Amino acid sequence: MTLIERLSELIRACFSGLWIESHEHQDALGEITMLCHSEGWRLATWDIDRGLAIVGQTDTAQAGGQDPLAAIRSLESMATPDGTAVLVLQNFHRFLQSAEIVQALVRQLTTGKQTRTFVIILAPVVQIPIELEKLFVVLEHELPGREQLAEIARGIGTEEGDLPTGADLQMLLDAASGLTRHEAEAAFSLSLIRHERITPDAVWELKCQTLKKSGLLSLHRGRESFSSLGGMTALKAFTKRALLQPSRGNPLKRPRGVLLLSPPGCGKSQFCKTLGNEVGRPVLMLDVGQLMGSLVGQSEERTRQALRIIDAMAPCVAMIDEVEKAFAGVGNANDSGVSARMFGTFLSWLNDHESDVFVVCTANDVSKLPPEFGRAERFDGIFFLDLPGAKEREAIWNLYLDQFQIDRTQRLPDDAQWTGAEIRACCRLSALLDVPLQQAAQNVVPVAVTAAETVERLRTWASGRCLSADQPGIYSRDVQPASGARRRVNRDASSN
Ligand SMILES: Nc1ncnc2c1ncn2[C@@H]1O[C@H](COP(=O)(O)OP(=O)(O)O)[C@@H](O)[C@H]1O
Ligand SMILES: [Mg+2]
Repeated sequence: MTLIERLSELIRACFSGLWIESHEHQDALGEITMLCHSEGWRLATWDIDRGLAIVGQTDTAQAGGQDPLAAIRSLESMATPDGTAVLVLQNFHRFLQSAEIVQALVRQLTTGKQTRTFVIILAPVVQIPIELEKLFVVLEHELPGREQLAEIARGIGTEEGDLPTGADLQMLLDAASGLTRHEAEAAFSLSLIRHERITPDAVWELKCQTLKKSGLLSLHRGRESFSSLGGMTALKAFTKRALLQPSRGNPLKRPRGVLLLSPPGCGKSQFCKTLGNEVGRPVLMLDVGQLMGSLVGQSEERTRQALRIIDAMAPCVAMIDEVEKAFAGVGNANDSGVSARMFGTFLSWLNDHESDVFVVCTANDVSKLPPEFGRAERFDGIFFLDLPGAKEREAIWNLYLDQFQIDRTQRLPDDAQWTGAEIRACCRLSALLDVPLQQAAQNVVPVAVTAAETVERLRTWASGRCLSADQPGIYSRDVQPASGARRRVNRDASSN
């Protein structure tokens, strides 16, 4: 349902207080004006800068123009015996600290039901004082859909050849989705100025910058494919099958996402990035550290904003890397419930989102995740990526020996306990310092040694609970490849 459809329904049902959360007031106002016009409702708007304006009347300056209290009271005089009147108050959250204003609103909203007078507050946040909580219904002004983006594009690229056509137009709309109307306009215009036409690539580029500026999300569009990762056979097959199945139209069959667990350096982050390219979706990375680091009161709002952008960019892959870091504070007495609320917002989105967003969460340490996180229905699968076995390591060596053009005749170092990251580091060092691999290996400290206990704990936790990333079926720490078992014997002997 669009904003206008919902608004129209609520006004008919006599909800006298409506709070619209919007970052684009002009646009929301335009839609409200159209609605009021087509329904024959009287409409007035107020903001602190311009005061009260009654739509359709030219001499807008009314008595007490800039007084917020007078604005509320003016609504009474707009009431007619058989008509409907609507007052839009912009950024009125700023004035709700005043007891008089709150009281005036309480009275107005209560009588409004009888007199068919309605108050709409347009604000970028939802901050409703407790006295008014039950009197307001909150609506979200959603980001523009593809239709609207196409309309904006047509408004800007008016000349022949300005706009792409056919499949390229669809690509342009993909590129623009997730932007606000204003941002889309700016992106289209800039592309037109720079390239003399509106191109998907230019819009992608601008969108990357816009997202980065918001500090919450970044966009990854790379060329890497699954072949740049050794091992993970089961995980690759599972995700590809889930995402490429031809049931995009059926929300019940829509894939939801996976949770990936492993010691650091086993390729979780890299996997997410390659997944996007494999299945032809952009990868949006949500920076949870940034979210938490922002001003306390804003975290929740920012979480919602980021989730809205992700929804609007569907179909996409949303990567929430090292998710345990964001939620480490849940239940912690020191943060006054912020993480718990953010976590709640995020979990309910994970459960309820209807958009075609495939979520990949990664975690290095499950003990920091609240237990409810891993509940089965939130994800299509929870995968454990163990340290690579002998076969996987061989594949990874081959990748990086090639990539760094290293002489293959030399002996490989002892790599039991190594992760993919360590194999890569060894090859990189060998190429960088121009030394044999054996020598480069002396500078590699495997995670499995420095954090042996954490790795063991993770394995124990994952055993019987998670799917194995390497082979089909459930991970069990006792049924590992032969080399894995041998590794462990050595490790136990030296680390205890
Ligand atoms: N199985 C693998 N195959 C190829 N490269 C790997 C593999 N595992 C890890 N790497 C490399 O190690 C580096 C670190 O991996 P990353 O994805 O950041 O690990 P994680 O997110 O699990 O900590 C990346 O450059 C990645 O390409
Ligand atoms: Mg990572």
